[in-house]
Amino acid sequence: MLNGQIIKLLKEKSGFVSGEEISTFLGITRAAVWKKVKTLRQSGYVITAIPSKGYRLVKSPDIPTKEALQAVFTGDIIGREIIFYDVISSTNDKVMEIGATRSEGTVVIADAQKHGRGRFGRKWISPAGVNLYVTVLLKPPFVPKEATLITLMAAVAIVSAIRDFTGLHAVIKWPNDILIRNKKVAGILTEMKSDMDRIEFIAVGIGINVNMSLNMMPHTLRSVTASLKSERGKPINRVELLGAVLSSFDYWYKNILHGKRHVLLDTWQQLDSTRGKKVGVRMNERVISGIAQGISDEGELMIELHSGAVVKVCAGEVTLLNKKNHF
Ligand code: BTN
Repeated sequence: MLNGQIIKLLKEKSGFVSGEEISTFLGITRAAVWKKVKTLRQSGYVITAIPSKGYRLVKSPDIPTKEALQAVFTGDIIGREIIFYDVISSTNDKVMEIGATRSEGTVVIADAQKHGRGRFGRKWISPAGVNLYVTVLLKPPFVPKEATLITLMAAVAIVSAIRDFTGLHAVIKWPNDILIRNKKVAGILTEMKSDMDRIEFIAVGIGINVNMSLNMMPHTLRSVTASLKSERGKPINRVELLGAVLSSFDYWYKNILHGKRHVLLDTWQQLDSTRGKKVGVRMNERVISGIAQGISDEGELMIELHSGAVVKVCAGEVTLLNKKNHF
């Protein structure tokens, strides 16, 4: 926490900040400040120290560590606890393991994942140093079927943050894909532990392809995948982007806790990429096709069939259909 505050202070002041000012601000001795600056340097921060002037931050590493994140973001609920790993098996696995004993809003971040997972047991490509792999622990006072709302909320939070931070036109493909120009740039994996009538906790896993070059993806996925860098043509600061995503997440989560679900649902509909388009939805072995009509109040996808009947789908994989591909 204190390391994060030092970075925040140095960033705010931009020039030199005296050791005395830092020690008064944090309520620690000047020797303790010096020790903390040493640790920060070891984790990649370039900090100049001049005896008569104090400290100046020259460069921050773009690694989404706890300290780096605390310098750019403070949430009321999200980020109460931040746990960072250089490498982990999967941030979702970690949150499913520790969720019962940690407080709501805990965020687990990894720079790389060995067994990153997507929906339907698919692999999520998770190389080090380029993307964001994050799982947020939530404990909403909801019944299990309301968990759908959490995936919708995460999608709105991610899309809003990507748009604000990068200017790229991100959109949602129900239920958990984030696309830019029809290519997937981010995905959400929501998992939960619950009993019949109560959610114990939810793990909301977020993977965003930030600075990954597409040759890191398998050949088969290259035509349907993108990264923010490949779309914008220049690298994106991961720490600041994650700060924006978690701020947005905190905002939307408080909204739905305080009864403003309709605001979330309305915003979701505005960011929906399939409304009015012909889609196919695969649900286990069954496939239906029709015109997407947005979502119901419960978050189900509504499809108008050829017969004119409207069906509500609560899970499945959506494909945009054009003249070439029909189910
Ligand atoms: C999907 O689109 O199928 C969901 C992808 C979710 C990937 C993220 S990366 C962080 C978290 N940890 C995981 O193992 N998966 C999610």
